[in-house]
Amino acid sequence: MSSHRAAIDVRSGQASHVAAAGVLVILGASGDLTKRLLMPALYNLACDGLLPDDFAVVGMARGDGTTETFRSQQRQEIARFHTRRSFDEQRWQWLESRLHYTAGEFGDPEAYSQLRELVAKVAAGTAAADNTLLYLAISPDFFAVVNQQLAAAGFTRLPGRKRIIVEKPFGKDLASAHALNQSLLSLWSEDEIYRIDHYLGKETVQNLIAFRMANAMFAPLWNADHIDHIQITATETVGVETRGQYYDKTGVVRDMLQNHLLQMMAYVCMEPPESLDPDVVRDAKARLLEAVRLPGPDDVERDCVRGQYGQGVKADGTPAVGYREEPNVDPHSNTPTFAAIKLHLDNDRWAGMPVYLRSGKSLWKRGTEIVVQFKGQAESNLLIFHIQPYQGVEIRMQAKRPGPAFQLQRAGMRFDYADTFEASRGTGYEVLLYTALNGDPTLFSRTDFVEASWRVMQPVLDAWSETPAGDFPNYESGTWGPRAATTLLEQDGRHWHECLSREVLCRSAFFANAPTVLLNTLVLAFRPLAVEAGATVVERGDSTCDLYIVCRGALEAVGAADERLGIVREGECFGEMALLLNQPRSATVRAVAHCDLLVLDAEDFQRIIADFPQAEADLRQIAASRGA
Ligand code: BG6
Repeated sequence: MSSHRAAIDVRSGQASHVAAAGVLVILGASGDLTKRLLMPALYNLACDGLLPDDFAVVGMARGDGTTETFRSQQRQEIARFHTRRSFDEQRWQWLESRLHYTAGEFGDPEAYSQLRELVAKVAAGTAAADNTLLYLAISPDFFAVVNQQLAAAGFTRLPGRKRIIVEKPFGKDLASAHALNQSLLSLWSEDEIYRIDHYLGKETVQNLIAFRMANAMFAPLWNADHIDHIQITATETVGVETRGQYYDKTGVVRDMLQNHLLQMMAYVCMEPPESLDPDVVRDAKARLLEAVRLPGPDDVERDCVRGQYGQGVKADGTPAVGYREEPNVDPHSNTPTFAAIKLHLDNDRWAGMPVYLRSGKSLWKRGTEIVVQFKGQAESNLLIFHIQPYQGVEIRMQAKRPGPAFQLQRAGMRFDYADTFEASRGTGYEVLLYTALNGDPTLFSRTDFVEASWRVMQPVLDAWSETPAGDFPNYESGTWGPRAATTLLEQDGRHWHECLSREVLCRSAFFANAPTVLLNTLVLAFRPLAVEAGATVVERGDSTCDLYIVCRGALEAVGAADERLGIVREGECFGEMALLLNQPRSATVRAVAHCDLLVLDAEDFQRIIADFPQAEADLRQIAASRGA
């Protein structure tokens, strides 16, 4: 165990000591990042007693603010953005009294002299003078000029420990990332550069290392002999919102895959590091990325699917605009908002086993999950890391159904963060700031990792920029993405494991107020079912009472005279009335396209609900009042 991590009690997973004294300089302090993430994270650390007395924040931004205006602005913002159940005025006062500010243009040398003086003044005579963090909370367009000005003002020669913290996007391709590294490395040493990927601040992502290192029973199975494939999915229901200008130059590969998804893949697939020493862990991650087989143009054509969202329906049922209609987006944009990519790892551990990455915006569910599918017969075992919003680890297995006949049924075991830990929900930046103050680089990326990650994605970026998609937009907002993403796995005899979340189930008015434990249990009991276009899923008058959720595709409900009563879209449920009231089906439901459904068998529902008599009564009452 490295001395760097000495402040973390690895047995409890809690930081048990206050961070090292220091000054956090935020360049771009009037921006979104400061108010939404950095300040709430500092406030959380202050509430948990993890910031030292010798701590100060010095903000700098354009405009004409002062320490007074900065403090009052942050006071207003923290009321909106803090993440705790209640607001602790005293702890905020403690932090607010440590906030300082100087206004200045990023290109003005005078501004940096003043910054330097202010930093020296607030730290004078305290231990904070020996530890300076310089946080670039600014657009990458200003990285070069700000760095040069910092160096010219003597920040690279400060006494004691100094770190420059750089936010993503770190370059826009391999060449620009390399150039940015070179320019940083000409002013700072490698161990002074902390490149942030906020996914590494997530507890569930850090838990991937804990899982790998502290659960020996999985170690012998962690290879291509036992694992069939791995799926890493990060999907969002939101579109690009107000970020069209940034996103249209960026796209999903640069925005999500090159960084967040490859970081998660590295943790899951790296060789187990021999220790938690920061460089041992970072060596293992970089080696893993170096083992990724770089796709050629034909591989990209075959193994990579891109998508762009068109108009559709949002998860809340309201209409959604298409990507090309979003503000500040080119109306003919060829930028992908969805990608599904198959990668191969050419090393002894993983030879022959694919990893599938998938991410997109404006889809039917927000969720990040890593699914490890073990080899086996028809129903293989799954190990699922639920990263967010539901946080947990789950194992899916088969169990004998009680009764005289030997019948198997899917069963699962779950470790749920919310049941196990009481920690307040943070922003994810707490651990990043805390470990940065302590000079622990484990959660920050090194030059080799960043360049290796661009090297992996560069062939995809090149191939896609050379051949415009032609069929954009190719998926409707609120759906599960382009059909080709499903085909990508089907051609390998596999399918995406859509992790149903209780949030999805709650979209049905029937389940909106059901108890969490019941929803968690129900979610586990759904099984996948594929139906072809035109197939009837339920017949009017039929007395089967199963409940369905549409994962992919769409179905129509038709009445007695074959008239269309409505459309059931991706993310929606049908069959609640029959399930809850045990009534014959009131409409026929037919697939209008190929559909992937999730089904909850009525029998399973009855068995589960029997353990929740109050919820059962409530649900049946909702159904009865709707049916009346
Ligand atoms: C950011 C991307 O890095 O990650 C955003 O720029 C994306 O487009 C976000 O929405 C997702 O982060 P999270 O923590 O909500 O999964």
